Amino acid sequence: MNLPRLNTLAAATLLACAIATPALAQSGQKLKVGLMLPATGTFAALGTAIENGFKLYVAENGGKLGGREIEFVNVDDESDPSKATDNINKLIKRDNVDVVVGTVHSGVAMAMAKVAKDTGTLLIVPNAGANAVTGPMCAKNIFRSSFTNAQPGYAMGEVLAKKGIKRVVTITWNYAAGAESVGGFKEAFEKGGGKVVEELGLPFPNVEFQALLTQIASIKPDAVYTFFAGGGAVKFVKDYAAAGLKTSIPLYGAGFLTDGTLAAQGEAAQGIQTTLHYADSLGTPRDMAFRTAYATTYKLQPDVYAVQGYDAAQILGIGLAATKGDVKNKDAFAAAVQKATINSPRGPFKMSPTHNPIQDFYLREVKGNENRVIGIASKSLIDPGRGCRM
Ligand code: BEZ
Repeated sequence: MNLPRLNTLAAATLLACAIATPALAQSGQKLKVGLMLPATGTFAALGTAIENGFKLYVAENGGKLGGREIEFVNVDDESDPSKATDNINKLIKRDNVDVVVGTVHSGVAMAMAKVAKDTGTLLIVPNAGANAVTGPMCAKNIFRSSFTNAQPGYAMGEVLAKKGIKRVVTITWNYAAGAESVGGFKEAFEKGGGKVVEELGLPFPNVEFQALLTQIASIKPDAVYTFFAGGGAVKFVKDYAAAGLKTSIPLYGAGFLTDGTLAAQGEAAQGIQTTLHYADSLGTPRDMAFRTAYATTYKLQPDVYAVQGYDAAQILGIGLAATKGDVKNKDAFAAAVQKATINSPRGPFKMSPTHNPIQDFYLREVKGNENRVIGIASKSLIDPGRGCRM
C-alpha cells in the first residue's frame, strides 16, 4: 500500500455544532446515539476513554449537537466479532438509534460497517482501523475519527529504515488490525532498504508470549516492531522487559503499545519509541484545553482513544449543524464533514474522500508517565482507501 501525502492542512477550524434553525432541532426530538464499545475484556479501558471523550464534547455544547439533545444507548460488544451483527442490529432495530458510534476492534467494526451500509444508518468509527471500512466497505454514511491500521505502522517503517536498522521481527495478534499494522510497517521499511525476517503472531486476545519471546531471542534481530493494545499491550511490554530483551533488542510499535497503559507498564515501558497521531506533550492551546477539561471531568489523563471519541462527537456535530439535525440527509451531512477542518486536540485535520482522517503521525518516546513527542514521523498521511466506490 502506498500512502501518499497531502499539502499542509488549512489552519482554519470549524466548530459547527452551535447554531441550529431547523426542523428536527426545533421539534425537540432527541437524537439517539448508540454507543457500541467494549466494556469488558482486553479493550475495556479503550471503550471507556472513547465514551468519556464523546460525552465531554457533548457536555461542552450544552448536551446538544446541531440543536438536538443527545441521549445514549450502550451495548458492550465484548470485542467479539461473532456477536457484532446481532449487537448493531439490536441498536438499530430494537432501540431505534439515529446513529451508531463504535467500535475498538477491527473485526467487530467490519461487521458493523456491513450493517450500516446495508441499512443506511449513520456510523462513526472512533477507533477500529480496519482498512476495509474506508476501503471496499466505504459508504456515504460511514466516517472514521481515528486512523487506518496501516498508517502508524507505515510511519514507523519509515523511521526505522531511516535509522539504518536492517533486520526486524514483527509480533502481533493474528487479526485484521495486527496484520494490517504489520503490513503498513513492512511496506515502508522494506521500501527503505530493511527486511522483515520473521512475522510472529498469536490469536487475539491471547497473552501467552513466552514461546514467541524465546524465538525472538534466538533470531537476534536488530529490532522488533509490534502491534498490541489495551491489557495485551501492558502484558507484552512487561514480559518483553522481564525476558531481558529490552536492553538487547529495541522494541518499537504502533503507539497503542504505550497509550493509556503507562501507569500499568511502569519501568518496563521507559524509552520505548512509537508512532501515533497523538501524544501527551503536544502543548498546543487546543490540546491543553482538552486535557484540562478531560482531567477535571474524569479525574484521569486523556489518551488517544479519548481524543478519537471527542472527535467522533465533533464530526457528528458538524454534520448535524449542516442538516438541521437530520442524520437521514446523507448528502448534506457528508458534504459538510468533507468540507470541514476538524479542530482536534491532535491538531487540525481534514477527512479524506473515503472519510478517514488525513493527519500527522508523531514519533514519541516514553518518559515517566508520558508519550513525549520527539519528531514528526509522517506528515499529512492519507490512506488511499483502495477499493472504495462511493
Ligand atoms: C483495532 O482492532 O483496529 C484496534 C484495536 C486497538 C487499538 C487499535 C486498533
